[in-house]
Amino acid sequence: GVTLLSDYKPYPYEIEKISLVFQLAPEATKVRATLAMTPRDGVADLHLDGEDLKLLGVALNGAPLAAEAYTLTTTGLTIAASALPEGAFELQTEVEIAPAKNTALEGLYMSNGMYCTQCEAEGFRKITFYPDRPDVMTRFHVRIESDLPVLLSNGNPVGQGAGFAEWDDPWPKPAYLFALVAGDLRATSGSFTTASGRKVDLNIWVRPGDEDRCDFALASLQRSMKWDEEAYGREYDLDLFNIVAVDDFNMGAMENKGLNIFNSKLVLASPETATDTDYERIEAVIAHEYFHNWTGNRITCRDWFQLCLKEGLTVYRDQSFTRDVRLGALKRIDDVAMLRARQFREDAGPLAHPPRPSSYREINNFYTATVYEKGAEVVGMLATLLGAEGYRKALDLYFERHDGQACTIEDWIKVFEDASGRDLGQFKLWYTQAGTPHLSVSEQFENGTYTLTFEQVTAPTPGEPEKPPRHIPTAVGLLGQNGDEVVPTQVLEMTKGRQSFTFTGLAAKPVPSILRGFSAPVVLERDTTPAEQAFLLAHDTDPFNRWEAGRNLARDTLMAMAQGATPAPDYLEAVGQMLADDAATPGFRAACLRLPGEDEIAAALAKKDVVPDPDAIRAARRGLMATLAQRHEAALVGAYEGSAVPGPYSPDAAPAGKRALRLAALALLSTLDQGRRASALYAEATNMTESIGALGLLVAQGAGQAELTAFAARWGADPLVMDKWRSVQAMLSPPETAVEVVTAIAESGAFEWKNPNRFRSLLGGFAANHAGFHRADGAGYALFADWLIKLDPLNPQTAARMSTAFETWRRYDATRQTHAKAALERIAGTQGLSRDLSEMVGRLLG
Ligand code: ARG
Ligand code: ZN
Repeated sequence: GVTLLSDYKPYPYEIEKISLVFQLAPEATKVRATLAMTPRDGVADLHLDGEDLKLLGVALNGAPLAAEAYTLTTTGLTIAASALPEGAFELQTEVEIAPAKNTALEGLYMSNGMYCTQCEAEGFRKITFYPDRPDVMTRFHVRIESDLPVLLSNGNPVGQGAGFAEWDDPWPKPAYLFALVAGDLRATSGSFTTASGRKVDLNIWVRPGDEDRCDFALASLQRSMKWDEEAYGREYDLDLFNIVAVDDFNMGAMENKGLNIFNSKLVLASPETATDTDYERIEAVIAHEYFHNWTGNRITCRDWFQLCLKEGLTVYRDQSFTRDVRLGALKRIDDVAMLRARQFREDAGPLAHPPRPSSYREINNFYTATVYEKGAEVVGMLATLLGAEGYRKALDLYFERHDGQACTIEDWIKVFEDASGRDLGQFKLWYTQAGTPHLSVSEQFENGTYTLTFEQVTAPTPGEPEKPPRHIPTAVGLLGQNGDEVVPTQVLEMTKGRQSFTFTGLAAKPVPSILRGFSAPVVLERDTTPAEQAFLLAHDTDPFNRWEAGRNLARDTLMAMAQGATPAPDYLEAVGQMLADDAATPGFRAACLRLPGEDEIAAALAKKDVVPDPDAIRAARRGLMATLAQRHEAALVGAYEGSAVPGPYSPDAAPAGKRALRLAALALLSTLDQGRRASALYAEATNMTESIGALGLLVAQGAGQAELTAFAARWGADPLVMDKWRSVQAMLSPPETAVEVVTAIAESGAFEWKNPNRFRSLLGGFAANHAGFHRADGAGYALFADWLIKLDPLNPQTAARMSTAFETWRRYDATRQTHAKAALERIAGTQGLSRDLSEMVGRLLG
């Protein structure tokens, strides 16, 4: 069935507390739940969610309930109002579950001999009968019985002995934040003293052997705790904070109260095994989950339609954190590049949906770039509209007003309205409508007055034919012809379909720098010249727009080349100037040297109604790399050699930025030297960033066989490192061989496809191989469909998530479309397809 936002009704019972007893056993775990319940508004039928549970008994106020008093279905247990007393009562259920057989990794399951849980969004109903919805909040008491040495749950430890442990969480919470872990685990421990003097014990729990890869995660947690106090005034609220690394995990990590559970790839790091990007992501995700303690846990969501209330805000918070503690302006550049690659792509295709959707069949399918990353952009726009002080005032009010509640987007908007006195009714469309607005700009200059005229249009998206104008904050600055800033950044608020803004008293026609800092998630369209873009790349005082100017030049050049043109001289020239600009940091220069990806070029062509040809796009991109390398060989060699980082590895931003420049220069140079330098770098590298970077460049040339073999020999026993080996080959192998390479790895017998990280490393890597996946004969689509069909019965959530590889299929030519459609229809026609994957395929087919 379909769940609708408009069907929301409060739950008719309040739960004062829940007490859970787990007797752990791989094939037959017993779970006894005791709920203290009170009717809210008179006696009503009592429904408890429950799936795949073997019911052993139900008792009401201590007396077994007669079979006629309740009904049991595949989705839950309902006790008729007539069987319930007038006032408060205690309900007890006992069920049996089999964690070892749980391959979906939702609810209680086993990973490498340890027990762990994942309850968001609706996994708790696979553990016990309960109203599994976020607006039902209660205090949890948990007893775990098991011989395993480490037994963890939420909150504080309140009892421990031979074969058992008891935990009590003083903070009421929804069931999706419940967690349990049991296993042979080792802790890396530390502490943090909060601003008000509370000492918090911190532990990072991992399997024996992984202890030496936890220091960075622990330090990241400490930095996050400090930052949330400084930036948001938020202190931690328990004496203990545990993080556990798990090898089999469907997503990145989970913010369970006081017991965060992480995919091990987002905890474990050492210079030999993790890249600079891995370090950065670990820090960001540790921060993200920690920040959820206030934005998610203390204030949660009323229902799952409100998911972006906690996710958009928490992503915005983790992005701000990484900007402040690590990357500065570069962070915005990375985030926008990612937003365009994932969210704009989603918004332009059959899966487009608003940050707050209004219906779903399977909520797991809505943990999307739109809910997370566009949700974060919407929060960022509110911060831009209110200014730093206004934003902080609004957030203070949010925490004060809603602490302990399960809230909606309406509550959130109201806080901003009350804190600022502004009407945000139109702004709210950002939450309730899908699609990326296109903003076109024209300019006029006359008698010292400069006028910018904006026009906004949003194309229809599935189910939303009409798109009223949005409230768009547009940060604009004006530069003089010699590069100095004549009008500093102002935020122009666009609210109409077409709107003009004037600047007076100018001596000469300025050069506009529009949408500074990417102040709104829109596509900016402006008739400009390559010369003007080159000028902005050289002079813009806004670092984001400086990068953006170079990006526009590169994209336009590549689009033209993919249609047969030769590269624009202005672009080639501008790259040389940028390379020579020693005032720009290495990290920034690296970001400017990286060309837009093939998928981004395809999207840009499709937007101009040109049918993208994946092979021509790939040829254009590689052709431009070679042209740049020839033209700037000396400067690139200088950048390559000059940015070597001697001495012991540090994941800090400065050395990481140098390594990024070194690899970006090497990527271009590799088109000239047949991989000579990349081979040499591979041989001498002492950190994973350079090893895997060099290996990827070799693979992209159709070379690197010896290095791939050596890498596998060295790292064969380390699955997280071997994920990189698989990814690099799946993603970067030339299109002629990619399908065969992926097939060979998949069928090698060593490929543990049931583990989500392994599956994603290979198939996710392949989906990112634009020309390989979209091979004209459809072999890429067919291979991908085979694997989704194989994974779906075991792990529907990951299968459904990976099906987004097909979201662009309508962009391409008729032959490719025919093959993609056939692959999708083959999936759709599979017997017993999961609700997750069938919803996705249905939407993909439109
Ligand atoms: N709340 C978690 C986070 O943002 C992610 C949970 C994802 N759950 C899911 N069913 N996909 O970090
Ligand atoms: Zn989150």
